[in-house]
Amino acid sequence: MKVLGINGSPRKGGNTDILLEEALKGAASSGAECEKIMLNDLHFSACQECARPPDNGNCVVDDDMQAVYKKVDMANVVIVASPVFFGSLSAQTKMMIDRFQCRWRAKYVTGFVNSTPPGKKGAFISVSAGDKKEYFDNAASIIKNFFATVGAVYTGELFCAGLENKGDVLKCSEIFNAVFKLGQKAVKN
Ligand SMILES: Cc1cc2nc3c(=O)[nH]c(=O)nc-3n(C[C@H](O)[C@H](O)[C@H](O)COP(=O)(O)O)c2cc1C
Repeated sequence: MKVLGINGSPRKGGNTDILLEEALKGAASSGAECEKIMLNDLHFSACQECARPPDNGNCVVDDDMQAVYKKVDMANVVIVASPVFFGSLSAQTKMMIDRFQCRWRAKYVTGFVNSTPPGKKGAFISVSAGDKKEYFDNAASIIKNFFATVGAVYTGELFCAGLENKGDVLKCSEIFNAVFKLGQKAVKN
């Protein structure tokens, strides 16, 4: 069982990072092999909206996203974590998702099926400084679209509002149990 955690926050050791790490600890406690990607450490471009990407579901742009496609393909569970930026996902997260347009086209236009484990699951973690529920809803709707594109069933989410500064989440002890369980459950069910 492989679990891939994708962190779309630029802040290492920030609130998103801390919660994602805890979710991965939960997944590891259920016996999963876990890996985390920090999107901000990768070098990749935004989608170039080429008129016609190849029919095999791969993107023509040769950058660090090529490794991300492989990791997402191989994962049984994908956990995406992003802070709320301007009412939605971080730019890093959205840029990665846009680069899955090649997979969207393969799935919905050309009918090419990329090999991926059956029963793939996806979960979403998000944090924000304010407490606008609609911002989490915005972010989650894009993530649901992403998971549908990569063939993952949306199985869990955890949102934590009121976190402004790096590490603020450490004051919210009750959330740790919930996010650990999110990781654990994603692997078990
Ligand atoms: C560019 C930017 C935009 C932000 N936009 C919002 C926002 O629209 N609503 C909100 O509640 N918080 C917003 N925030 C605050 C972050 O969501 C918050 O500080 C979060 O805890 C950062 O998570 P991190 O430590 O994982 O990076 C924004 C922060 C930045 C840097």
